[in-house]
Amino acid sequence: MFDRTDSKSTNKCNIIGILKLLRVNLKGYRMVQKFCGIKVKSNFFLAPMAAVSSLPFRVMCKQMGAGLVFTEQINATQISRKPELFSENKIFSIKTCKEEKPVCVQLFGTEPKDFAIATEIVEKKFEMININCGCPAKKEVKIGAGAALLKKPKKIVTILEHIKSVSTKPVTAKIRLGWSKNEGVKIAKLIEKAGADALIVHGRTAEQGYSGKADLKAIKKIQDAIGIPIVANGDIVNAKSAMEILEKTNCEFGMIGRTAMTNPFIFKEINEFEKGKEWLPTPKEKINAFFDYYALCKKFEMIKLSDLKLKAMNFTKGINGIKKRRTALLESKTIEEIKKIFEEIK
Ligand SMILES: Cc1cc2nc3c(=O)[nH]c(=O)nc-3n(C[C@H](O)[C@H](O)[C@H](O)COP(=O)(O)O)c2cc1C
Repeated sequence: MFDRTDSKSTNKCNIIGILKLLRVNLKGYRMVQKFCGIKVKSNFFLAPMAAVSSLPFRVMCKQMGAGLVFTEQINATQISRKPELFSENKIFSIKTCKEEKPVCVQLFGTEPKDFAIATEIVEKKFEMININCGCPAKKEVKIGAGAALLKKPKKIVTILEHIKSVSTKPVTAKIRLGWSKNEGVKIAKLIEKAGADALIVHGRTAEQGYSGKADLKAIKKIQDAIGIPIVANGDIVNAKSAMEILEKTNCEFGMIGRTAMTNPFIFKEINEFEKGKEWLPTPKEKINAFFDYYALCKKFEMIKLSDLKLKAMNFTKGINGIKKRRTALLESKTIEEIKKIFEEIK
């Protein structure tokens, strides 16, 4: 259905529908689009991922073509009590830079007042605020934050109202379909009414964790029920599944988490696909991506050997001969050793 080379055989209605869905003009170029009033170059976004969506990684995904990147979750209470941690740029996750703009900062917590104070601090540096109402991690749920908020949607409303009362930037929320059962439409309606500018929906309940498949029909029901933009999230693994999620949910935007974590090339793959081209990284591009990432970590003074080793393995998956060198990569103690392993492959 999305094969542009076969377009002659596709009927006219279908073509126009698909072009509309993909927001491309007849020459196949993507039209400028906006998300919450902010220009985005692609309608696929990098998900907030704790210990993954760091500044160097976000910049890399941006360079690969992500339309918008999200920070990992940041503790609203911590920022509200120790703002100097933010202003002095000491917390790993709240550094930002020009190259990654626009960026959405994600806050987590339970106290509406803390969210408001934190917003006043972080919104000076970020283009958008997002509330984490979807993380099912025990540590978070125990204190009533993340996905626990899905059990008390009125609390989400209060948090949103507090943030909206101080914020000059778009405010969004990220939810799952519900805690144990699908209550997505009900929760989304409350969030819209409270003034959210957009909503990101991961198509699973909190209790599901990552089991089963993301429920795209449930995301579509939310999309059909409310007027603010919905970002569909869950199980995008390649360009084809990226197109499918938009088609099946009727959403204009998609978000990618786990696949981007191991394969940041996914954004370029999708963007090229939308231009009618098939693109996958060559072995050389995969290795170069690792060195580009290393250069970014150096630039932002965020070098962590364990993280570099992980990226070295993730980015170069599928290259001939890399499997045999996995142990050597894991055991390497310096960047020089990692470099040497890649030299051998070249
Ligand atoms: C390592 C990891 C960390 C995550 N951290 C966050 C987080 O900080 N905030 C959040 O809202 N979701 C977090 N998520 C969930 C993702 O943002 C995303 O909703 C989920 O992985 C589903 O998308 P996917 O199928 O594309 O991975 C995390 C996921 C992973 C794998």
